[in-house]
Amino acid sequence: MENRAVIFDLDGVLTETSRAHFLAWQALAKSLGFELPDSVEDAVRGISRLASLEIVLEAGGMTDRFSQPEKVALAEKKNAMYVEQIKGYTADDLFEGADELLRMLKVKGYKVALASASKNAPFLLDAMGIADRFDAVVDPATLKNGKPDPEIFLKAAELVKSFPENCIGVEDAYAGIESIRAAGMKAIGIGKPEVLSNCETVYPDLKTALDDYFSTL
Ligand code: BG6
Ligand code: MG
Repeated sequence: MENRAVIFDLDGVLTETSRAHFLAWQALAKSLGFELPDSVEDAVRGISRLASLEIVLEAGGMTDRFSQPEKVALAEKKNAMYVEQIKGYTADDLFEGADELLRMLKVKGYKVALASASKNAPFLLDAMGIADRFDAVVDPATLKNGKPDPEIFLKAAELVKSFPENCIGVEDAYAGIESIRAAGMKAIGIGKPEVLSNCETVYPDLKTALDDYFSTL
């Protein structure tokens, strides 16, 4: 349990799929007859597919409009639009610094794990050629609670046999930072300080986090 580990979120941390998720939600909203404001992008960051759908429907004033099976169908429709955007992803779609950071952590003896809420994460890891860099990938289908609950980060720590206090979590979502902090881990935020107001250490992008933080570990 003395392993040191870095536990990554995927969407918006290693690649810019947070935007792709949101564009798919906007397209779904349009098909339902309303415009989804840009302000919702940060609210759905890190949130599971069905929980995000609730946020989207609320934004359109459609909270009680659909049955559960209809909601599942709407979430599948959004996913199909999302998958269409990521189907051609390659290593070129990794954020600058991602490859170097994953290599460096291995050299420094860190375990590397993935704590993504996305069921599309294994596909993306393969498509971007980084699946073998991870010592563990949490399967979100096995979890009871989504972010901001700490379960996903605690599960990742358990899989790489690390105590939470020996783990660093990396996130672009407010809910994800809540999850890391509730797990008792050091949190590194990627994005805007005003969005990640719950995080002490925020970098504008992964490359800056690599240069200013991870390379000093
Ligand atoms: C998170 C994204 O990583 O995964 C969310 O930030 C998304 O936007 C969630 O809703 C679930 O993803 P998926 O691919 O299973 O719908
Ligand atoms: Mg994310």
